[in-house]
Amino acid sequence: MTSLTHVARLALALLLLSGCSEPPAREPDRRQPDGWRDGVALPEAVDHDPAEGIVEVHLEAKVAKLELRPGVMTEVWTYDGRLPGTLIRAKRGQRLVVKFTNNLPEPTTIHWHGVRVPASMDGSELVQSPVQPGASFTYAFDLLDSGTYWYHPHVRSSPQVGSGLYGALIIEEAEEPFFGDEATLILSDIGLEEDGTLTPLDSNGWFGDYFGREGNVLLVNGRVHPTLKLREGVSQRWRVINAARSRYFKFQVPGQRWVRIASGGGVAEHTLEPEFVTLAPGERAEVIVTIEGQRGGTVEIQGHDANRFRLPKPADPVPLFALEIVDEAAGDPVELPQALRTIEPLDVSSSRLRRFEFAELEGMQGDVLTIHVDGVPSDHSMPVHVQVGSTEIWELSNATPYDHPFHLHGFSFQVLDLDGHAPQVREWKDTINVQPNQRIRVGVHFDDRPGHWMYHCHILDHADLGMMGALMVMP
Ligand code: C2O
Ligand code: CU
Repeated sequence: MTSLTHVARLALALLLLSGCSEPPAREPDRRQPDGWRDGVALPEAVDHDPAEGIVEVHLEAKVAKLELRPGVMTEVWTYDGRLPGTLIRAKRGQRLVVKFTNNLPEPTTIHWHGVRVPASMDGSELVQSPVQPGASFTYAFDLLDSGTYWYHPHVRSSPQVGSGLYGALIIEEAEEPFFGDEATLILSDIGLEEDGTLTPLDSNGWFGDYFGREGNVLLVNGRVHPTLKLREGVSQRWRVINAARSRYFKFQVPGQRWVRIASGGGVAEHTLEPEFVTLAPGERAEVIVTIEGQRGGTVEIQGHDANRFRLPKPADPVPLFALEIVDEAAGDPVELPQALRTIEPLDVSSSRLRRFEFAELEGMQGDVLTIHVDGVPSDHSMPVHVQVGSTEIWELSNATPYDHPFHLHGFSFQVLDLDGHAPQVREWKDTINVQPNQRIRVGVHFDDRPGHWMYHCHILDHADLGMMGALMVMP
């Protein structure tokens, strides 16, 4: 199937199913070569509600057999039979309704990572009894912020995400500015045996949990080493999501300039030009990539070792995906403003300080991972209490020898300082890596969404091992 018929079919399906035919606000993908992102195509969810303000999508969790590694079939857990799951795209100000059916052999939920949902829609076991096999649940919430988000289960998160359950949720501005033709790239990994079967999800028992399981096969949108085509000089906007259960991704476009415009929570105040982008599990970044002077060539994007174990010598880079620079006349790059938006700094002048420290405790069957809150190990039965309307300073630190990404549900934060140094840019984040002995202070405002929330290490094996705590936002 050529890209054109594919697009035509999709447009027809949208027309028939949603009854709305309004053209997208952003410029169509006519600046890129034909089929430029077929190698990483992510089917988008169909909107079943004709109302302008509502996007209604249907998601089904089910077991499917997919050819992840050429020549062998693998039974994985999927949303809609796809890995990654269907991409959901909506606009800030719209209401997202997700009619979810669980056809997996065990209970599950959906957590909307980074999204400011009401507590009851957060998908954690604190607020929802898991959706049983054969049962359905409707998630519905207003989209308050634009940005690159994702969704995944919050029941036995590590094995369920490790089985293939994750997908992207892209929230655009009503008038999304055009920064370049867009590709969403979900980076992940999966453990596959020679015959294509999944490596046992609890492989290596306690050690697997303690070190965090990394799959032996790297995936970009569910494909092994796919290719993305581009034209010299023409900008692409990549929304990159790390959906791996434990693996970090660190990458660059070698020999080329790129511009980072956003983390997960919408565009930052201004652009950055980092040498590498590093994403801990759960983190996202948006980059504008423009290739110069390489017509007809190929550029390899490699996964570099982010060295989360802080070893003296990082591992060698591994191939992730390729860029094929087509032999066509160069186009014009998109003029990117340096200032992207204004983000009011949070007022923390009278804020209460709370300390969260990643730590290890000696346990009966090996060490237990935990988060100390003001010196006390976190415990679900003893949630941290905060007041609606308050703004707090959370100090994140790490007393273990390895990196851990801190993730807070439902509320995004601004980094105030890292080891006393101001961050490079002001932006909204919900997940941030904390290195051993590092001290990061973030400001977090608790807007009017009372209820039960969670915070945890997003190395999902660590969360399962106890690096997780509960938060109660009091009305
Ligand atoms: Cu993406 Cu509780 O996590
Ligand atoms: Cu951790």
